[in-house]
Amino acid sequence: MKRSKISIIGAGNVGATTAHWCAAAELGNIVLLDIPQTEGMPRGKALDLMEASPIVGFDAQVTGTNSYEDTADSDVVVITAGLPRKPGMSRDDLLETNAKIAGAVAGEVKRTSPRAIVIVVSNPLDALTQRVLQVTGFSPQRVMGQAGVLDTARFRTFLAMELGVSVEDVSAMLLGGHGDTMVPLASCASVGGIPATRLIGPGRMEEIVERTRAGGAEIVGLLKTGGAYYAPAAATTQMVEAIVRDKKRLIPCSAYCDTEYGVGGYYVGVPVILGAAGIERIIELDLTDAERAEFQKSVDAVKSLVETMSRE
Ligand code: NAI
Ligand code: 2OP
Repeated sequence: MKRSKISIIGAGNVGATTAHWCAAAELGNIVLLDIPQTEGMPRGKALDLMEASPIVGFDAQVTGTNSYEDTADSDVVVITAGLPRKPGMSRDDLLETNAKIAGAVAGEVKRTSPRAIVIVVSNPLDALTQRVLQVTGFSPQRVMGQAGVLDTARFRTFLAMELGVSVEDVSAMLLGGHGDTMVPLASCASVGGIPATRLIGPGRMEEIVERTRAGGAEIVGLLKTGGAYYAPAAATTQMVEAIVRDKKRLIPCSAYCDTEYGVGGYYVGVPVILGAAGIERIIELDLTDAERAEFQKSVDAVKSLVETMSRE
C-alpha cells in the first residue's frame, strides 16, 4: 500500500512532536519544513527521528527541508508555523504576526499541494483557519483546525483525575472557539457510559470546566518560554490518523459552519465526522438555552477576531 505523504509546516515544538507521534504510528512519510533562516534545524530533527526508527520499530521516511518543493503533492499538510504565546499573552495577541505567516504558508500549500487536506494548529486557531481557507480557496471540507481534540483531552484528563478512573473510560465533547470562551459540555461528558454529572456535583464540575478553559494558560505559566506541545501534537496526530486511515472519528474540530448552528460562515469547534475526505459531516446537537448562550458568546469572540484580521 502506498504510504501517505504528511507535511508539517513549522518544525518547532508542536511540529516536531507531531512528526514524532505520526512516525511512531506509521501514518506515512513525513516532511518537516521550516523557514530558510533555521537552516539545518528541520533536517537535523528529521534525521534524529529516522535514527530512532530501528529502536522504536517504525517504517516511515522522515525528511527535513526549507523548501516547499519537497512537500509537493502531500496528502495532508499540518500548519504549526508561527509564534507561540509567552506568559501573560492570550492566543489572540498572536493574531497580527501569525495571520501573515498563515497567509504566506497557505499560498505555498495551494501551489505545491493542491489536493491536500489541511489541518491548522497555529494560534489564534479559528481565525487563522479562516485565513488558510481564504488563501487556498480549497473546499471547507479540506481545511480544518485542531483545538477540540486537545481541549476535550484536557477535560477528560481532569475528570479522570477527579474520579480516580482510567482516562480510557472518560469521553467528552466541547464546542466553540479555541479561547477562553470555549464551551466544554458537562452534559455530554461520560464515564464508563455513566453521565459524569451523576458522579460529580455542579460546583466541582464548574471548577473542572474552568480549569479546562484555562488549560493552555496553565502550561504556559509553568513552562514560561512557550506553550504546550505534547498534548497538542498528540491531538493533531489523532486527526491525521482519522484522515489517512479513513477512520470516521466523531471528534470536535474547528470546522467551517455556515447554516450549521446558525454560525454564518466562520470556523468554530463542533463535533464532526473526520475521514479520508476531511470533514465528512458536522453533527448538530440540541443545546440547552445556557449552552446555546455560551456557544454564541464564543462564536462572537471568533467573529470579532476574524473582523480584526480582515482589517489588518
Ligand atoms: P515554536 O516556536 O516551537 O515553533 C514554531 C515554528 O514555526 C518555528 O520553528 C518557526 O521557525 C516556524 N515558522 C515561523 N514562521 C514560519 C513560516 N513562515 N514558515 C514555516 N515555519 C515558520 O512554537 P510551537 O510551540 O510549536 O507553536 C506553534 C504554534 O502552534 C503557535 O502559534 C501556538 O500558539 C500554536 N499552538 C496551537 C495549539 C492548538 O491547540 N491549536 C496548541 C499548541 C500550540
Ligand atoms: C494550548 O491550548 C497554546 O493553544 C495552545 O495549549
